[in-house]
Order: sequence, then structure tokens, then C-alpha cells
Amino acid sequence: MTRCRVCDQAVQEFFDFERQPLSSAFPLPGEADGEFFFRLAVGICSSCTLVQLIEDVPQEHAHHQGYPYHSAGSSVMHKHFTQTAYDLLETELTGPDPFVVEIGANDGVLLRTCGDAGVRHLAVEPSGAGGVRVHRAFFDAASAADIRAENGPADVVYAANTICGVADLAAVFAGLDVLLGPDGVLVFEDPYLGEIVERTAFDQIYDEHVFFFTARSVRSMAERFGFELVGVERLPVHGGQIRYTIAHAGRRVPSPAVAELVREETGRGLADLATLEDFAAKVRGIRTDLVALLGDLRAAGNTIAGYGATAKSSTVANYCGLGPDLVPFVCDTTPGKQGRVTPGSHIPVRPAAAFADPYPDYALLFAWNHAEEIMAKERAFRAAGGRWILYVPTVHIV
Ligand code: TMP
Ligand code: ZN
Repeated sequence: MTRCRVCDQAVQEFFDFERQPLSSAFPLPGEADGEFFFRLAVGICSSCTLVQLIEDVPQEHAHHQGYPYHSAGSSVMHKHFTQTAYDLLETELTGPDPFVVEIGANDGVLLRTCGDAGVRHLAVEPSGAGGVRVHRAFFDAASAADIRAENGPADVVYAANTICGVADLAAVFAGLDVLLGPDGVLVFEDPYLGEIVERTAFDQIYDEHVFFFTARSVRSMAERFGFELVGVERLPVHGGQIRYTIAHAGRRVPSPAVAELVREETGRGLADLATLEDFAAKVRGIRTDLVALLGDLRAAGNTIAGYGATAKSSTVANYCGLGPDLVPFVCDTTPGKQGRVTPGSHIPVRPAAAFADPYPDYALLFAWNHAEEIMAKERAFRAAGGRWILYVPTVHIV
């Protein structure tokens, strides 16, 4: 039986994607034989309702370099982190000499903006990347103690697209206990289970996303570690996220939005196995529809390209069995992915410029979380008669 990573009670499985590779391990074309696969399956804790992966990626295969990056050169994300910095500067970082710490770095946009405003800042990032002042470590009690000894307590610990990938949440909270001042807060944002279910966004489920939070499960987790969920805010980025604010227990009056969101989640049955099994049935339907559509389009002589070799696309391509026969290449702006093939599905990755050279008849938008930005940037594709294929919330062409 699988046990909850936070409360140790039984986890009930509701979906099995079967054999999946690591979503960020892009092999060279000749090296695609020795790939590591694991069983990607997801379940819900019968006690604290935390939705989580069933299996861990064994330590020796996990990516140790650091917390993954997610700004991905997106101008929308750049604006998002800049705005978040302004918000924090106005709300939490107003004391005499505030100190903000980010777990991971997300290209350093948030911390740089805080730094430009004269605020002391530090990223905790094992790879050392980010272009800002960095403490090279994973965030835990030991690194938190080093940071506090050197800088004093933190007013804010911020994390975007990071907490959901840390299997050992107890270590994170132990670090917060050490580093946060008495009125300090953890502010973190991650994909929201409510949006994943609403949009059948099954591709948010991959090796680097271990947890799929709700206000209810985060509230329960915070309590378990001596903290309290005091704020929730919906964010439009990355296909729908929630920003959670967590304080030491009893230090702040929780915003009414917390209880409201928990109530809404209960009304939607987000913690009910029946709701998650309904989600699972829809995921199976998307696979059937997508494979049929791509097969029909190819049989009719259309050209197809993938757009954005996202981490999410690994789940889609491998679960749906998409390979170069259906999707001959995928274009992506990340130099480190170009010239390689996608994990498990072995679709060649080409530079962004390959998209227009010549335009395909159809583009499968793997980076659908950046749809607005990409469709605006690629207006000429549609003007030339090209069409986008999306598979969330259902398979459709626009
Ligand atoms: P992520 O959503 O998994 O963080 O990654 C986004 C991927 O999409 C990343 O590999 C870069 C790629 N991308 C493009 O190729 N073109 C774009 O316009 C955007 C926004 C992203
Ligand atoms: Zn639990």
C-alpha cells in the first residue's frame, strides 16, 4: 500500500499512466536506448486529501542539479514575476530592512526586482543558476540555519512551481521553522488540482510534479507542521494556479478567501474518489480522440508539427503513444533541447525557426499553458491557413 508523503495514511490510486520517462531527460538521437522509465500513477490520500504521485523516481535517476526552471523565456511569466515582486514589496516587505528568500530561482526575475528596490534577497538553488545572489543548496533545516546565521530571519520565503516537486515537504517546513521570523510567511504558487480537474489537464502530471494541491490539502499540511494557511489567490498563469500564503500558527487571521475556497472545493467534490475517477475517464477519452484525429489528419496527407517540447508534453506523447510517425518534429526555443529527441517518444526537437520553414498544416500545441502568448506571436501561421490542435479540455482545432 502506498502511504501519504505528508501524513502517512493510505493513498488511493485513481490513474495510471504506466511507463513514463523523465520529462526533462532529452536524449541525443543515438542515445535513446538507455532511457530510464518509471510508473507514473497518481492517487489521493484517504486522510489529508493530498493528491500525489504513487511512485518516487529513485534517487539515482532524479535530477539533482537543482529546482527546475519555469520562466521558459515567456514574456507573460516575466511580467508575472515582476508584478509578484511589486505585490510583495507593498505587502510583506515593508519593514525597516526586509529580507526575501526564493526557493529555486525562476530566472531570478522576482529577486532582481526586489533587489532593484533595495531589498536584501537570496535564492536557494543547488545549481547556482538564476543570475542573482544564490545560496547553493536544497532548502532544508541545515541550509536555512546557514542562511539565518548570515542574514537573520526572512520576512518572505517565496517559491513558484517548486514546492509541488519536493517529495520531502517535512524538510521544507523544518527549514521554514528555522528561517522565517515570527511574522514571516511562505508564499508559494503551484498548479491547482481544481483547474487540472476542471480542464482535464492531465499533462500537469509528470515526474517533477509530485503533489497537486488544493486549499484543503494545503491547509491540512500547514497545520501538521505548526503553520496555518492564511491566504489563497487564483493565478491565471501555467493553466491555472493558486498562490498560498502560510504563516506560523496563530500569528495571522486567515483571509475569508481560504474558508470560501475550501467550501467551493467540497461542493465540487474535489476530494471525492468519484470526481477523480470521472477525471480519469475523460483522460482516456482525450487519448482516444487525439490519436484518432492525428491519424486521420496524417492519412489525409496533412503535415503536423508539435509546438513547445514542454515537460507536460512528455506525459501526452508517451501516454498517447505519439511518435515521429504522427508528429514528425516539435519546435522549441530552448537551445538545450534542440537537436535532441523528446523523452520516451523520440520526436526530434528543432529550433523555433523550423516552425515557419515551411509552416505545417496543423500545429499540436504542447505549450497550451502559453497559448495566448504563442498564438499572438504566431499570427502569421493562422493567416497562412495553419490550424492549432489543442487537447485540453477536449481535443479540438482552432
Ligand atoms: P514549461 O511550460 O514546461 O516550463 O516549458 C515551456 C517550453 O515551451 C519550453 O521548452 C520553451 C517552450 N516554448 C516555446 O518553444 N515557445 C514559446 O513561445 C514559449 C512560451 C515556450
Ligand atoms: Zn495524507
